[in-house]
Amino acid sequence: MCGIVGYIGKQEAQPILMNGLKKLEYRGYDSAGIAVINKKDEMNITKSKGRLSNLEDKLAKHVLEGSTGIGHTRWATHGEPSELNCHPHTNSKNTISVVHNGIIENYLHLREWLATKGYKFYSDTDTEVIPNLIDYYYENDLLEASIKAVGRLEGSYALGIMSTNEPEKIIAVRKDSPLIVGVGKDEYFIASDVPAILNHTREIIYLEDKEFVVLTNSGVNVFSLDGEKIEKEVHHVTWSADAAEKGGFEHFMLKEIHEQPKAIRDTMTSRIIPGQPINLDNISLTQEEIKKIDKIYIVACGTAYHAGFLGKYVIEKLARIPVEVDIASEFRYRDPIITDRTLLIVMSQSGETADTLAALRDCKAKGIKVLAITNAVGSSIAREADDVLYTWAGLEIAVASTKAYTTQLITMYILALFFAENKKTLTTDEIETIKKDMLTLPEKTEEMLKHKEVLQKFASNNYMHKDMFFLGRGIDYAVAMEGALKVKEISYIHSEAYAGGELKHGTIALIEEGTVVIALATQSDLYEKMISNVREVTTRGAKVLGFTAEGNTSIEKTVDAVIYVPKVTDILLPVITVVPLQLLAYYIAVQRGCDVDKPRNLAKSVTVE
Ligand code: M6R
Repeated sequence: MCGIVGYIGKQEAQPILMNGLKKLEYRGYDSAGIAVINKKDEMNITKSKGRLSNLEDKLAKHVLEGSTGIGHTRWATHGEPSELNCHPHTNSKNTISVVHNGIIENYLHLREWLATKGYKFYSDTDTEVIPNLIDYYYENDLLEASIKAVGRLEGSYALGIMSTNEPEKIIAVRKDSPLIVGVGKDEYFIASDVPAILNHTREIIYLEDKEFVVLTNSGVNVFSLDGEKIEKEVHHVTWSADAAEKGGFEHFMLKEIHEQPKAIRDTMTSRIIPGQPINLDNISLTQEEIKKIDKIYIVACGTAYHAGFLGKYVIEKLARIPVEVDIASEFRYRDPIITDRTLLIVMSQSGETADTLAALRDCKAKGIKVLAITNAVGSSIAREADDVLYTWAGLEIAVASTKAYTTQLITMYILALFFAENKKTLTTDEIETIKKDMLTLPEKTEEMLKHKEVLQKFASNNYMHKDMFFLGRGIDYAVAMEGALKVKEISYIHSEAYAGGELKHGTIALIEEGTVVIALATQSDLYEKMISNVREVTTRGAKVLGFTAEGNTSIEKTVDAVIYVPKVTDILLPVITVVPLQLLAYYIAVQRGCDVDKPRNLAKSVTVE
């Protein structure tokens, strides 16, 4: 989704804005622009369609001088990607400029109303109403005018606002869209996400909905919609600036795949200690409340939904609590049955996904407890849930999620064991065995990274196919869903996951000579059944890459190539099985010459509905 950066200080704004926008490229965008106010108090704006390099080329020929500026990468929602629709947008007099992330739902109404007051519009965007609305209310006080204008907006927004009438000021506000404030030494920033400003400061203020921040050369002040001053805490972010660099890897995705052993270890640290009860970071759920739960909903989108899908198997098996997994955009509109014995778990890497956040809010309004699993400290989901469990995956930049997924799986196991302990559905010995095995997962994940050659070879022999099928049963089916999504997202090959037993109810009609099938047969109790499914496709000419646990060598008679996963309690195998699937998707995308880290049409954080 769109990225926002703003700077006010003593340095030239342009390089800082451009650098910040580069760090936000991972969010997805199709055009970009910056506005800078110069020493003569003039607003200068440069915009460009396409990649940031296009904008850079323009700026190289025509530098924007000045030390107050805002910048934006746009992911088109209203109006095609074009220079005209690109941000910053201004009022007709070019005195007020605005960058916006989100969607203004009542923009047509506001546009018609402003037109009756003589305002003219030049773009197809919803955003253009905002600078004009501020202009309408402006009476020598930008904050007051911004408050009045924002009061009329419906929808979601993160806004950066500047005016030549008050040139040494940036105003920002958010609602349902991420925006942070960076506090440096004599310089201040706004940004959609921390990496954009990490080179300058690690001191961050997280804004709540409808809080207005005024940045000037001498500091930062936050106000409510009523204009009341609010005291805000400044948080110190511990990420190093290197987290946002590729560190020698060709792509962020490859780097993040390799970071999984550490991410898994970090997510378990202090929570899983042999001989000690599971330690869940002081969550407020009591044993009484846990015993009372008769239904858990796990609600998420995309990869996080797939992790939730595995969570269902794991929590039901270990803790014997019924779990429903829902896609957030479906859950929020389907009137689910919610009682005082229901627990909602929302899962989100970014902590800002609009549908997941809406599901959280709906359930909170109904009075039930919400537990969030997220990777983003200080995100909306983290702040609004009753309890939070962080996945300590570290910064994930590639649009295709990898280490966030594996740490979400780890969190599902931790939670299932926590419930099992509290409900006594497993013996202490059974719990200890799983914990012991979990602690071996980082090194087993490391081992999986060594299968590169087989995977690269399989990728280079098969990257030109139009379709791929991923088959699995039980928890392997959950992993198959994630494997298929990875291929789809970054290589644009049509890939689908099917439960092995479901194949013959329709989909097998698509299997023909040479169709590529990835068959996951890691679960001992389902191994023979899965091998039968594999035979069904090989008989029809499919080319199969099989995955199974070490020792199941009989698979070699049925498949074209095989990857063995190290032995560990069956239920934990998804964590290590998914690693070669991620690598396979990566190598296929590289072979096809795709933009691995920034796949077409996708955004890292989906902050609009
Ligand atoms: O930030 P979230 O975990 O809420 O994001 C949910 C999905 O948008 C996300 O997982 C998406 O499917 C990724 N591109 C998957 O690789």
